[in-house]
Amino acid sequence: MREGQSKVIYRSDYQPPAFWIDAVELVFDLDPAKTRVLNRMRIRRNPDVPPQALRLDGEELNLSRVLVAGQGTSFKMEDNQLVLENLPEGNEPFELEIFTTCYPAKNTKLMGLYVSNDSFFTQCEAEGFRRITYFLDRPDVMASYTVTLRADPKRYPVLLSNGNLVEQGTLDDGRHFARWVDPFRKPSYLFALVAGQLVCREQRITARNGKEHLLQVYVRAGDLDKTEHAMNSLMASVAWDEARFNLPLDLERFMIVATSDFNMGAMENKGLNIFNTKYVLANQATATDTDYANIESVVGHEYFHNWTGNRITCRDWFQLSLKEGLTVFRDQEFSQDLSGSPSARAVKRIEDVRVLRTAQFPEDAGPMAHPVRPDQYLEINNFYTVTIYEKGAEVVRMMQTLVGREGFTKGVSLYFQRFDGQAVTCDDFAQAIADANPESQLAQKLDQFKRWYSQSGTPRVKVTTEFDAGTGMYKVTLAQSCAATPGQPDKLPFVIPVGLGLLDAEGRELTGGMHVLTQASETLTFPGYTSEPVPSLLRGFSAPVILEYDYSDRQLLTLLAHDTDPFNRWEAGQRLATSRALAFVRGDGGKDSWRLDEAYLDAMRSVLRHPDLDAAFKELVLTLPAETYIAEQLDVVDPQRIHAVREAMREQLATALHADWERVFEGNQVLGAYSPDPVSSGRRALAGLALAHLCIAARSSGDTVWPGRAYQRFKDASNMTDRFNALAALVTAGSDLAPQALQRFHAMFKDEPLVLDKWFALQAGAPDRGGNILPIVKQLMTHADFNIRNPNRARSVIFSYCSANPGGFHRADAAGYVYWSDRVIELDAINPQVAARLARALDRWKKLAEPQRSAAREAIARVAAKPDLSNDVREVVTRALAD
Ligand code: TRP
Ligand code: ZN
Repeated sequence: MREGQSKVIYRSDYQPPAFWIDAVELVFDLDPAKTRVLNRMRIRRNPDVPPQALRLDGEELNLSRVLVAGQGTSFKMEDNQLVLENLPEGNEPFELEIFTTCYPAKNTKLMGLYVSNDSFFTQCEAEGFRRITYFLDRPDVMASYTVTLRADPKRYPVLLSNGNLVEQGTLDDGRHFARWVDPFRKPSYLFALVAGQLVCREQRITARNGKEHLLQVYVRAGDLDKTEHAMNSLMASVAWDEARFNLPLDLERFMIVATSDFNMGAMENKGLNIFNTKYVLANQATATDTDYANIESVVGHEYFHNWTGNRITCRDWFQLSLKEGLTVFRDQEFSQDLSGSPSARAVKRIEDVRVLRTAQFPEDAGPMAHPVRPDQYLEINNFYTVTIYEKGAEVVRMMQTLVGREGFTKGVSLYFQRFDGQAVTCDDFAQAIADANPESQLAQKLDQFKRWYSQSGTPRVKVTTEFDAGTGMYKVTLAQSCAATPGQPDKLPFVIPVGLGLLDAEGRELTGGMHVLTQASETLTFPGYTSEPVPSLLRGFSAPVILEYDYSDRQLLTLLAHDTDPFNRWEAGQRLATSRALAFVRGDGGKDSWRLDEAYLDAMRSVLRHPDLDAAFKELVLTLPAETYIAEQLDVVDPQRIHAVREAMREQLATALHADWERVFEGNQVLGAYSPDPVSSGRRALAGLALAHLCIAARSSGDTVWPGRAYQRFKDASNMTDRFNALAALVTAGSDLAPQALQRFHAMFKDEPLVLDKWFALQAGAPDRGGNILPIVKQLMTHADFNIRNPNRARSVIFSYCSANPGGFHRADAAGYVYWSDRVIELDAINPQVAARLARALDRWKKLAEPQRSAAREAIARVAAKPDLSNDVREVVTRALAD
């Protein structure tokens, strides 16, 4: 059964609400089969809006009673809305009481109130509260909440909601209750409750202002030994927001709760953050260094929402990036500040840019392209995207670049002075940053800058240079353009900060600075050079653009060896690799003709041998550009050929640099107690990359020593990073030892769901050999530990294959696409949000070479033809098939 409206919502249609809800009292009788919800609201008409009916949103609810001021009243139902027409006139508040029931145990969408491992959880963003009770379920309606939870004390000993616990006790019928009052008004999407058998790690902290706070991390009983890192991350987050932005914790109690059934990463409910276990639980035996880093940034992210999102929230969902872009920017800065060294900061920046370029750039070039502040949507859940999050963060970062770090902090303070406690827009934020910095280029070009919010698509900056040896004049011309995107045929110029440096032929820095490009084309002149400089362009990745410049290999080798900007040093290495990969892919030769040149191999060798570069940085340089990144550079894509080329390049790096990989592996062993700090994790990452290459080399040489050592390492490792890297090296190289290692790994961790996710993902994402992966994926789905209803597990198998294994997925026989369409349809009946994410795996089908292109279109059409699709999946497949 499909309920719900299916009409497109437009930003331009925004109307303030006809009523305000000032206060809500909720009473829950928690029962998995049938939970009763009593909702008593104090409501008044919005005096600024002409009198009209009250329309409350509700979805999959059973309505049993509606009372106005204690009396029965007439009402009707119209497309999932409860419509009340005979309400008191005038602007006085009145009481509206609604009694409903819902079915948490049957809630497989994981939106609203649901059950996971016998505990109750809620997820209300964006529009989940309407699955709990009838309400004005929109972010600009902010109310005070009092919540009473009643439940069986044995099955649900812990009862949590937002704010402060004001009362608890036993009821006459043997159940117990807890009452929570949130001291802050909030929109419904920030409501949360949790009930179940949970335990918690506690920490008391004293803030800079002397106030005491209680921090808690709630998990299932066996997981308490995996909460230390999350708690440390939370403490660091509290301290950082005070120090960097003067934003203190505003609650006596701050809680994080982990659940293993969760649609996304985590949720910033006021004072009661709910997390996917993946972003809470870690100990050295079960979590990798990457997991530790992700936990730190997600804990930070949700905590930072307490100000950017909760204290100031979004007027409507088109403003989503107001909180998400800003909060991603804040969590990125947090991780950089915690990382401790300039090199570690650069590593974090490179990792963030890699995500932007491999995930957001394709989105911005595909059928789902949308501005950072979208103009329309069918299903808002489809707009929790890398564009809103990561590109939105880049837009905020450019603002900081344009006004300086201190100016940005001033701007944030002004933003809170003006809007604390309100629901506002992206314009309000940009205006505050500009007004606090009236002399800045941001203030002077604000309207033009805001095109970053309204225009979709990735701008290109084409650079040409000219050197006149006679006059010594060097000219750099920057020309910007942006291709058409759905609904936006023509674009106007952006404000683009371009970090720029000039090096001499020996790599010495001649000059450096920031140029703000505002015209379609501008020429910069640099007089007084005796020989042609080497340009270092878009330093630090100062804007989310594609920078085109016809670099020579010599220039790139100079930048890789000498640039003072670590980002561009890495970028030079990536450009060297990309140009080779593209030449191989575009050429008509086969594997034998894909020979890496000595200049490139020498450059990589010198990076590996470099005495001063950090291991983490070396690991990034030696990692070849992703297949999806290479694909984006081409007009017509043969994913299997790209995969083959990248594998061939890796094999040559493996054999040509064999002795160096050996030295690097030996030289980067981390001794002593485990710590996930950037230096140790960088060394483990580099040693892991070395081991992977040594196992790859062994495949062609017949060497058994390195696979043997990898197996030994796999068995003896004292932490998950080393163990998993060794396992992955064996699996990726297709070693004979892989099957037994996989079997052993499963036996060791059969009771650790997050580790089993890694085990599934590794196999579903492994390099395809003669079409072997799809059968493996199908086999994995019959495994006793597979469960399609658990989003983490579904992602570990299905997404790892369809979205993260292009070589295995894009089969010429179309079997990958048939599998995909079956899973999209299967998942849509269970969990439309997860299904719609999977549906996006074929976003870029139009670029595919034949026969894949036609087969992909057919598979999408097959999904689109299903009656009863969710809005989520329908929007994705309809847009994919458009024009
Ligand atoms: N606001 C959350 C964040 O970015 C993410 C989020 C939005 C979410 N909708 C969700 C999480 C639905 C889980 C389910 O931090
Ligand atoms: Zn967020």
